[in-house]
Amino acid sequence: MKKLTAFEIRELFIKFWESKGAKHLQSFSLVPDDPSLLFTIAGMVPLKPYYLGIKEPEYPRVVTCQKCVRTNDIENVGRTARHHTFFEMLGNFTWGSYFKHEAITWAWEFLTKYIELDPNRLYATIYKDDEEAYNVWRNDVGLPDEKIFRFGQDDNYWFMGETGPCGPCSEIYYDRGEKYSCGKKTCGVGCDCDRYMEIWNLVFTQFDRQKDGSLPLLPHKNIDTGMGLERLASVIQEVDTNYETDLFTPLIDYTCSKTGIKYGTDPKNDMAARVIADHIRAVAFMLADGVLPSNDGPGYVLRRLLRRAVRFGKLLGFEKNFLCEYLPILIKIMGDPYRELIDQRPVIENIINIEEEKFNNTLRQGTELFESECRKLKAQGKNIISGEIIFTLYDTYGFPPELTREMAEEQNLKLDEDGFKKSMELQRERARSSSKQKKSALTGDVYNDIENESGKTEFTGYENYKDTGKILALLNSEGRHEKITAAGEFEIVLDRTPFYAERGGEVGDTGIMRINGHEIKIINTVPHGNIIVHTAKLENNITISTGGIVECEVDNERRKAIRRNHTATHLLHEALGQILGRHVRQAGSLVTDEFLRFDFTHHSPVTDDEIIQAEKIVNEQILLNTELKINSYTRDEAQNLGAKALFEEKYGEIVRVVDVPGFSMELCGGLHVTRTGDIGSFKILREESIGSGTRRILALTGMNVINMLQKLSSLKNSLTALLATDEENLQERAKSLVNEIKTMRTEIQNAKLKELLSNSEKFLQHEDINGISIETGRFPDVKPEMLRDIGDKARSKAEACVVILASLNSENACQLVIMANEKAVSKGIDSGLLVKEACVILGGKGGGRKNTAQGGGRNGENLDSALNKIHDIIRKSTGA
Ligand code: SER
Repeated sequence: MKKLTAFEIRELFIKFWESKGAKHLQSFSLVPDDPSLLFTIAGMVPLKPYYLGIKEPEYPRVVTCQKCVRTNDIENVGRTARHHTFFEMLGNFTWGSYFKHEAITWAWEFLTKYIELDPNRLYATIYKDDEEAYNVWRNDVGLPDEKIFRFGQDDNYWFMGETGPCGPCSEIYYDRGEKYSCGKKTCGVGCDCDRYMEIWNLVFTQFDRQKDGSLPLLPHKNIDTGMGLERLASVIQEVDTNYETDLFTPLIDYTCSKTGIKYGTDPKNDMAARVIADHIRAVAFMLADGVLPSNDGPGYVLRRLLRRAVRFGKLLGFEKNFLCEYLPILIKIMGDPYRELIDQRPVIENIINIEEEKFNNTLRQGTELFESECRKLKAQGKNIISGEIIFTLYDTYGFPPELTREMAEEQNLKLDEDGFKKSMELQRERARSSSKQKKSALTGDVYNDIENESGKTEFTGYENYKDTGKILALLNSEGRHEKITAAGEFEIVLDRTPFYAERGGEVGDTGIMRINGHEIKIINTVPHGNIIVHTAKLENNITISTGGIVECEVDNERRKAIRRNHTATHLLHEALGQILGRHVRQAGSLVTDEFLRFDFTHHSPVTDDEIIQAEKIVNEQILLNTELKINSYTRDEAQNLGAKALFEEKYGEIVRVVDVPGFSMELCGGLHVTRTGDIGSFKILREESIGSGTRRILALTGMNVINMLQKLSSLKNSLTALLATDEENLQERAKSLVNEIKTMRTEIQNAKLKELLSNSEKFLQHEDINGISIETGRFPDVKPEMLRDIGDKARSKAEACVVILASLNSENACQLVIMANEKAVSKGIDSGLLVKEACVILGGKGGGRKNTAQGGGRNGENLDSALNKIHDIIRKSTGA
């Protein structure tokens, strides 16, 4: 067997398939263009349209080494020798140009001739009644009968997901030798132990599984194969596990050198080192492909992995941010061929640092809460962590529930999963009621049917805003109709349309359609696959039928405003890159007729000066009145021209490039002005944070800037009238009024205090614990100083006394003051400790001396449990 590095294996695999006529395509993004998947889970995923026959393949044979992420078993990653989240899949694919004979014999040739695996160690499995595959193995390859195994659907049938391409498969196994065997008599191919290892899966993808489980044939007999690079490397490099291949050892060695652990001596430490090595790969590649941390979808997986890596790092003794230290090592291992790691390094670093910092800040507090909960449960002889605690850890301290589960398992505790689900559901309910999103009542299938019947809608609106089209389909909330007669909302699909369908952040067009002298209002336009769907409003009871010809007219004034905002978004993108640095990358956008919203990666707030500079640069470009050049290129050409590509967008092989010569060049399918001067003017309204390392700018163009200036001017006029002053003195006048209000507030506060002090007994509840008088009081929103005054008065008793005072404001934030007199302190009371423990429950911090302490937290709803905790501690610390 040849000794090869992972890099060499990748290259050899590609070279081999190129020699069989395959085109090598670079790895596609980890984020698939497929709503049924969060990540690319196999080499065939980005190629799915070719399997389904939706798209004609540009090349009949393809070879890739595809970046993949699988997240079904994250808790096992690090625990075992072979689980990964991120991995690379070597694969060869065809749509009809070869089938089982070539797929199998060439795979055999690659393994035995090209990389010289010992043929005696290879075995094959086939789907139980796949005689065709059997014959190839038996007769064409010459594998003896006893080395061909037949298995059922669970082992030898590959499904992409619940629906989609699938088919029987044949797997190739490698025998790693006796020493890896479990020793059981039954040990053989298919055994769970480490001896027989599946290295290559050859799928004969012939079917398209439907939701109802049926399996219609795909247009071709296809091949899809997948071989994990990490696994193959472990075989070729003759190491025990994937983590000992050259893809991982530099990462693990770094952990050892930084923490002083020795890999292979303590299973717990080994696991932590593997978790970090696996997760840093996944995190860096996800960030490089444009995933940003968030609370759902791919961003949540990213956050979860990053936090899991941080927690395991802490177990090994890392204290501050440490994950980015692995980046240069990772780049050395994988920067070739994955250039995105190098190009996106500033973004990757920024976001990892911000996320890590954020998690570090709450990790300690959350761990304290978790540990105190564990202690409590154990003391009570219980073993289930409540849903509320899991939710608080998730919501307040950012602990992914899976992390809490893993920590609980380490303590032999379980989670109340149902209770947690209930808390989550309540939160979702709150979120749902605040979201007004409206969705079509129709499912995607109806649109797929229309596309299958009629093909894609031709968009004719780049140059024109008027056109005629034929009605292909009419739909309302009940489904498809030949005719629509009643007034109301419905959807209309044409063979061609000038209406732009919402895409790439740009809203859809509105306007009117005319048919037989009647007007139909178009209130929105959206894409579904390759068809364009217009939402229409019929005001009279007229009849519209499929097959009818309509005249379309887009609301061109509205569209002009959209064009202005879209081109301005490109100018702003470039301006921010120039001012803030090249790490600025678009993370989302919304282009409407009223405003533009631009989200981008940047680690700190944009200063007022930077905003002014950005406005200046964009307005200078507007005044230059440059003519835009919009052309189509191949993806490679566009890349060579230096056009910016956006990560959340999916591009085909031919791309449209929007060029503001001399300034900005971006891949974009949207609508733009003819010359920059058409934008008229540009003004930023607001800049804000929308999450880790991501900022948002809201801005206006054209007439909207003038409208805003007019509004500001009339606001200023009414303010000067209201405050009885003029423009020059407006600020001074406002300042002096604010000061006046401050003084009055203090006076009111003092009066309130006086009143509270004279009546404070009314608020206090008395209890005796072990001979100490405990006064507990809850007050409406009052300041801590006031609480201390009340406390001072209340503790001035002859007997031992502790005063516990809490105030809750309207946002449910809680202030806590605990004061004890000398006698109470001598009986063991420590106010500082009481406050500290209570504040963990209140979701905040606090402490102080034995006789006086204060603190607070955001979770005032936990005040009862915090007070119970305080009473508990008093009981325990002063008990006989
Ligand atoms: N799609 C198959 C797998 O993932 C072969 O590429 O195993």
